[in-house]
Amino acid sequence: MKIRKAVIPAAGLGTRVLPASKAMPKEMLPIVDKPAIQYIVEEAVASGITDILIITSRGKTTVEDHFDRAPELEARLLASGKQSTYDEIVAISKLANIMYVRQKETKGLGHAVLCAKAFVGDEPFAVLYGDDVVIGGEKPACRELCEAYEKYGLSVAGIKPVERDQISKYCSLKIESMDGEDQLYRVTDMIEKPMPAQVMSNYSILGRVVLTPDIFPILEKTAPGVNGEIQLTDAMRVLARKQGMVGKVYTGTRYDMGNKFGILQAIVQVALEHPEVKDQFRDYLKQVAETL
Ligand code: UTP
Repeated sequence: MKIRKAVIPAAGLGTRVLPASKAMPKEMLPIVDKPAIQYIVEEAVASGITDILIITSRGKTTVEDHFDRAPELEARLLASGKQSTYDEIVAISKLANIMYVRQKETKGLGHAVLCAKAFVGDEPFAVLYGDDVVIGGEKPACRELCEAYEKYGLSVAGIKPVERDQISKYCSLKIESMDGEDQLYRVTDMIEKPMPAQVMSNYSILGRVVLTPDIFPILEKTAPGVNGEIQLTDAMRVLARKQGMVGKVYTGTRYDMGNKFGILQAIVQVALEHPEVKDQFRDYLKQVAETL
């Protein structure tokens, strides 16, 4: 079955990037000239997704404004002959069929995904975490996961190895390689934010998953876990044990817009390739590097 729906949870409080995220959603932080969440929506669209549900919360209405038409701005751009900017701005509102639902209490990523139950219905769907931007790669990361789903009919976790001393901030996966398959693993167990003795591997889920709707009854029964939040990992663990799950090492580079260093890395990488600023920025970086 082809995957046509995606959920983007973007209702978190963003406490690691305060004060920037006090009045502005961290998902709207710009990477050079585009907010993080636009990269994510564009990745979903490039992966064949047509319907997107963004999970928002209080104070996040700028996300909706960004994907809406902006008549006054558009009229001004046209009047001043800025046709290509006009086209670019209008195109944002036509990227996909985007819907919104509010997560009324910030009860965790698992709870945010549960808010998508009515939207998803009875079909498999992709989840793209609203603060994880993936750039580059052979194909869009979401498409790589969707293709793995289409091949195996099982839920798919987008995975990558992380530094051993960092794994306690992520989840740790128990994985087995699949015969003859490069960058694909069988996921049999997982644990959120493990203590050192609980680490099963240094592979973690990073920002992208494809789930079957069987996740919803599990999420409904999932008790709050680490940090008192309903953890998606806890529900995915039950799903992996019940049905099996595939781990796909996606090829793009993931930038964590939920932490300050990740934001800097994303901006530098995109700026170095941005047609308008790349030459000037490269020269500037070289100058700065000489002073370090
Ligand atoms: P994070 O745990 O990275 O986001 O969730 P956070 O809670 O905003 O982070 P900090 O620790 O306070 O800085 C990953 C994604 O899930 C969303 C977030 O918006 C982020 O895009 N999320 C998280 C929700 O939608 N709802 C939640 O209750 C928690």
